[in-house]
Amino acid sequence: MTAAPETLRWEDDELYLLDQRRLPHEVAYLHIKDLAAAWEAIHTLTVRGAPAIGIAAAYALARSMRDVESGNFGETLAANAEYLKSARPTAVNLAWAVDKLVGLGQAQGQYEVLSAAACEIHAADTAICTAIGKHGAALIQEGNNVLTHCNAGSLAVSRHGTATAPMYHQHDAGVPFHVFVDETRPLYQGARLTAWELAQAGIDVTLICDNMAATVMSQGRVDLVIVGTDRVTANGDVINKIGTLNLAVLCNHYDVPFYVACPSSTYDASTADGSSVPIEERSAEEVRQTHAASVPVFNPAFDVTPVGLVTGIITEHGICEAAAIGSMLQSR
Ligand code: MRU
Repeated sequence: MTAAPETLRWEDDELYLLDQRRLPHEVAYLHIKDLAAAWEAIHTLTVRGAPAIGIAAAYALARSMRDVESGNFGETLAANAEYLKSARPTAVNLAWAVDKLVGLGQAQGQYEVLSAAACEIHAADTAICTAIGKHGAALIQEGNNVLTHCNAGSLAVSRHGTATAPMYHQHDAGVPFHVFVDETRPLYQGARLTAWELAQAGIDVTLICDNMAATVMSQGRVDLVIVGTDRVTANGDVINKIGTLNLAVLCNHYDVPFYVACPSSTYDASTADGSSVPIEERSAEEVRQTHAASVPVFNPAFDVTPVGLVTGIITEHGICEAAAIGSMLQSR
């Protein structure tokens, strides 16, 4: 069971977001009072992680429509939705959740319908993570060493996480195992968030720098890798935090299974492969940090792991080969 604080709360029709920029030093919530504040929170990674962005956007979009008159409802909803979607381009959950609300709102034109739909997306996410945990649990055997990257944990979703769900499941079942966590430069989601939330839950964790993964694999100290994802395209390509591709290449070299946890909200059937997915580029300052040099910086936030490097995808319906994700999810 996760011990991490809730990523977001919807109370009395108001949205509160855990400020993930301040973790692990401070647990503080921001009251998101308008659409601009929601856009800013998503853009600045106050709330981050593909499913959490989708849930937050759904609540924020619903909230923005509370006092809109019926004559302007459809037009305002469409404009607010496009604005929110522009906050971050790569995780498909943002567009998925917002478009879902737009469809309902255009048909029914009521704030209550939108807020109920946002609550449903939130509740469904919790159930999906639990199911991913059950399906992925068998991959983690007693004494195994698992490696993960970035944060696809409780903080990135509503509960249990996606990549971490099999870990929480096995920990609750009393199975002893150990997790290497990549620190995940430049924003340290692995060090600040994953290592923190797993350790809080009592899971045996070792933090490594991103450039140490090859060493621990070459020493035979990694039995499997499990990561989350921001988007899986129709052919099974996996878009996730920058550095995921490095791990997949290493796994291929060292014959280590490479698994991706993907809820159905992260599957993008309408994009053929990873080559056309927009990869967010972020500010140079994130990479420069305390370094004095003002040389140019390239800071892509995500990379594309080709389908051929993925051992399997863990979904809420079971584990499948990456190329078969469409039939796994669309047959439901
Ligand atoms: O930039 P971030 O912190 O939003 O990136 C998050 C990731 O890349 C996660 O691995 C992904 O969103 C899956 S979260 C279940």
